[in-house]
Amino acid sequence: MKNIPTPTRVLHVVAAAAALLGTSLAAHAGGEVEVLHYWTSGGEARAAASLKATLQAKGDTWKDFAVAGGGGDSAMTVLKSRVLSGNPPAAAQIKGPSIQEWASEGVLANLDDVAKANNWDALLPKVVSDVMKYKGSYVAVPVNVHRVNWLWANPQALQKAGAKMPTTWDEFFVTAEALKKAGIIPVAHGGQPWQDFTTFEAVALGVGGPEFYKKALVHLEPASLKSPTMLKILTTFKHVKDFTDKNAPGRDWNLATAMVIKGEAGMQIMGDWAKGEIVAAGKVPGKDVLCAAAPGTANSFTFNVDSFAMFKLKNKANEQAQKDMATAIMAPEFQETFNLAKGSIPVRLNMDMSKFDACAKLSAHDFVSTAKTNSLVPSIAHGMAVSSAAQGAIQDVVSQYWNTDNMTAQQAMDRLADAAKTK
Ligand code: BGC
Repeated sequence: MKNIPTPTRVLHVVAAAAALLGTSLAAHAGGEVEVLHYWTSGGEARAAASLKATLQAKGDTWKDFAVAGGGGDSAMTVLKSRVLSGNPPAAAQIKGPSIQEWASEGVLANLDDVAKANNWDALLPKVVSDVMKYKGSYVAVPVNVHRVNWLWANPQALQKAGAKMPTTWDEFFVTAEALKKAGIIPVAHGGQPWQDFTTFEAVALGVGGPEFYKKALVHLEPASLKSPTMLKILTTFKHVKDFTDKNAPGRDWNLATAMVIKGEAGMQIMGDWAKGEIVAAGKVPGKDVLCAAAPGTANSFTFNVDSFAMFKLKNKANEQAQKDMATAIMAPEFQETFNLAKGSIPVRLNMDMSKFDACAKLSAHDFVSTAKTNSLVPSIAHGMAVSSAAQGAIQDVVSQYWNTDNMTAQQAMDRLADAAKTK
């Protein structure tokens, strides 16, 4: 009688097919989620598409609200005007202390029921769940963990120059000189304030170490902001510019990554969203493009957690759709698919990493080990460390220093310390 489909067996098959399609037998009417994000590069768009597909599989509609501009500065400006005009999107990609800033305005929805039903407290590292909560309640859902302190390099370019992957800043400049002599642009840089700041942050961690980084760039202690170490960091940072090309100003980060992929440039200092571009170009991270912790930072980890905050809505179906999205984001299947495309690692603990590349495996290992040694630090350049006001003011100084030939390290340091007082 094995081959006669019983009603139960039919139901099982239907249920399995429905699960495959990502739908549920008890599909609800479906709502709409307008999603503000800035994932517009090749790798980012693939990752965003996986989020859209996951939401649509639940019977909800994705309304795309993409604002181009790496690092999200433009997206945040647009978000502010939409919220101020009383018309917020349903979900917005907001990170770090900004989540608290928006929550204190009373505009974010409470996600505690979803968090409780899905056990988020147990599934998330505390360093992450703390950031997602306002006054003890979840107001945002995390997607991933990006490591920011990475150096990417083209192996053929290094070989042609007879140079090696540097592990200290001294070695970095030796490799950069060798690449220059071989006629290769040593450093692919995108001259936009957030990219200047990303380089600065890597130098600060490598030259100053994690304790100094925390004192100066997380706690904004005046004695560290104005110190011989900071002077050395600023001088080292500016020296990196000597190895960038004349077309760097204004260049988007993904175009800089493409230069390394093609071997037009030797190295790039950038977070592991660069890995999304490498994968989208059909290359293997760790092999076709090498990855290593940024010079001097092998035992530290600058983290950057992408997350979505949900804004309060009046429409019940859309509210349910927001919850569907929050639930889907934390599901293991989504965590895997999304992060394979995005270049980041899953934010959910104890995930199977077997499908991930060598760079992601290193990142996952280091995320855990640096947490134990107190060298897991929040990225200031990517909105994880200080208030958005202080971050913006410090970023302005760093970028002006990078772009102004006659500004001395001493002058930059004085201005940096002033900028850090911005409330
Ligand atoms: C975000 C990433 C994004 C990158 C470039 C970072 O601040 O966290 O998700 O890919 O900026 O846009």
